Amino acid sequence: MISGFPVRIAGTGKYIPEKVMTNFDFEKILDTSDEWIVTRTGIRKRHFAGEGVKCSDLAYKAGLAALEDAGIDASELDLVILATNTPDTVCPSTAAKIQGMLGAVNAGAYDVLAGCTGSLTAMLTAVTGIASGVWKNVLVIGSEDFEDVLDWSDRSTCILFGDGAGAAVLTRSEDGGPRFAAGEVKADGSKYRLITIDKEEGRDNPVLRMHGAEVFKFVNVHLPPFIKSFCEKAGVEPAEIGFWVLHQANTRIIDSLFKRLGVSTERTLMNLEQYGNTSAASLMVTLDEAMKSGSIKSGEKVLFMAFGAGMTLGALLYEA
Ligand code: UT7
Repeated sequence: MISGFPVRIAGTGKYIPEKVMTNFDFEKILDTSDEWIVTRTGIRKRHFAGEGVKCSDLAYKAGLAALEDAGIDASELDLVILATNTPDTVCPSTAAKIQGMLGAVNAGAYDVLAGCTGSLTAMLTAVTGIASGVWKNVLVIGSEDFEDVLDWSDRSTCILFGDGAGAAVLTRSEDGGPRFAAGEVKADGSKYRLITIDKEEGRDNPVLRMHGAEVFKFVNVHLPPFIKSFCEKAGVEPAEIGFWVLHQANTRIIDSLFKRLGVSTERTLMNLEQYGNTSAASLMVTLDEAMKSGSIKSGEKVLFMAFGAGMTLGALLYEA
């Protein structure tokens, strides 16, 4: 359980780049079909950043939107955390670049790399730091620019991913107001080769490789018991969760999770169909869409869930 000062979501934002690639576009360059992709993943199209646009550019726009939504000036931020697997540079952090772009002159900045669990991990870090009194206002951004790291001839992987960014301003709350109640992250490093972005001979850029079927199996075996045990420790039944903010990787994974928890899929928002898997951005984009569409009702319990490279798993409980 999270103790200390209560922490709430003050505002959210997203930025999805304009360039679109549909399943039909993939049919023209790969031995694949719209029917295969939709049936196996739930994805119909995804967006890409385009030539010369970087992770920081998408993140900056999402961050700006979240600040505007929160009614907070960049100078009031104590910290900017960026969750990404596709930073502009390995060093310095892309978060530092964004801090400069935003003019968040009083804020520290660093990147979090935890696969698709990155933005959940960044949120948990922000929440515990605000709860302890170290920070008051933290901007958490998830942003991905996969276009340059995809192998466009690998049909089992390149059809899954898309670019985008989402952000949230987390701030100290009032007693009795909305608050994050619990959080947990886990890793199984023995499976770290299942999803990688690494250098390969003969390639200019690092390339994303995924053992899709093994990832699918890992997640289906480990995710339901992880969520069940998280709920138990947080003292909440899955049936009591009013809304689920989920990492968007594959509709079959979500359907199977909800079936095993006995939860209706009506209590979540899926956008995988439009954006594909935007990895560290996915949870933040989904959060923004859930907040803006009024899907999250005041007073209800909200569960955030993510999983990804590492392998990593994460959950957060929010009382809206
Ligand atoms: O967010 C990070 C976490 N990542 C994930 O959650 C991804 C988890 N994994 C998955 O979502 C699924 O494993 C995939 C969607 C990646 C693949 O689906 P699958 O049902 O596990 O397929 P598979 O890899 O077992 O392949 C089945 C067949 C193979 O053909 P053969 O060997 O049976 O003839 C593949 O070559 O499907 C073939 N295949 C394709 N066919 C048409 C693989 N990709 C494609 C494709 N189009 N794009």
